[in-house]
Amino acid sequence: MVNEYWDQRFKAEGMIWGKEPSPTAYHAIDKFKKHGVQSVLIPGGGYGRNSKAFSPHFQVEAVELSPDAIAMAREWDPDCHYIEGSALDIKIDKTYDGIYCYDLLHLFLMSDRHRLIQCCDEHLRKGGVMYFTSFSDGDPNNGIGRRLESGTYEYKEGKYAHFFSEEDLREHFSGYRIVETGTVEEVLRNQSNDSHSYLLRYILVQNK
Ligand SMILES: C[S@@+](CC[C@H](N)C(=O)[O-])C[C@H]1O[C@@H](n2cnc3c(N)ncnc32)[C@H](O)[C@@H]1O
Repeated sequence: MVNEYWDQRFKAEGMIWGKEPSPTAYHAIDKFKKHGVQSVLIPGGGYGRNSKAFSPHFQVEAVELSPDAIAMAREWDPDCHYIEGSALDIKIDKTYDGIYCYDLLHLFLMSDRHRLIQCCDEHLRKGGVMYFTSFSDGDPNNGIGRRLESGTYEYKEGKYAHFFSEEDLREHFSGYRIVETGTVEEVLRNQSNDSHSYLLRYILVQNK
């Protein structure tokens, strides 16, 4: 079902969020270098918008659910190894130094949010770092539409998201050493040059 939603969007809109990587990708790259990261996993890598920023610096692999997105990613970012599958059920027999997960966590209800973090944890080497971004509770869409769980709203028909407060985000990663958190406004431009913005939170954590 989720797969169909994304496949249809990628088919209809192509590079939905444009070609420019998120500013958080450059921020994460800087932090990863300071932590000696060499290998990176990107769950929910989409069509490679962000992985392409990482590929010149690290050995990068991405897990993505949508075959349409993967087909675009393999052209746009051929240096990244794209693996088709769910980030909730990653079956890669190795661990990575760093994990960058952009705007995937907020797509799930609570049990699957914890499952995603657990799945990433199983693929993070001891002392490795993870950088997650997600919708902020300061975003104007927070509180719009049907409430599904605490902090989670169906803000567009058939599409829901979880909106994180600082405390909520920290609680999700309470088993880790929290290195840094922050807020960023992400301005996205599609291929017709229309723009819209989201308020995101990010968190950088290290496993103990
Ligand atoms: C909000 S988009 C972010 C995409 C990408 N990080 C970017 O900005 O270019 C979420 C992405 O996660 C993918 N996705 C959704 N559920 C997934 C899952 N369970 N496992 C892997 N990827 C998933 C979607 O197909 C989509 O590409």
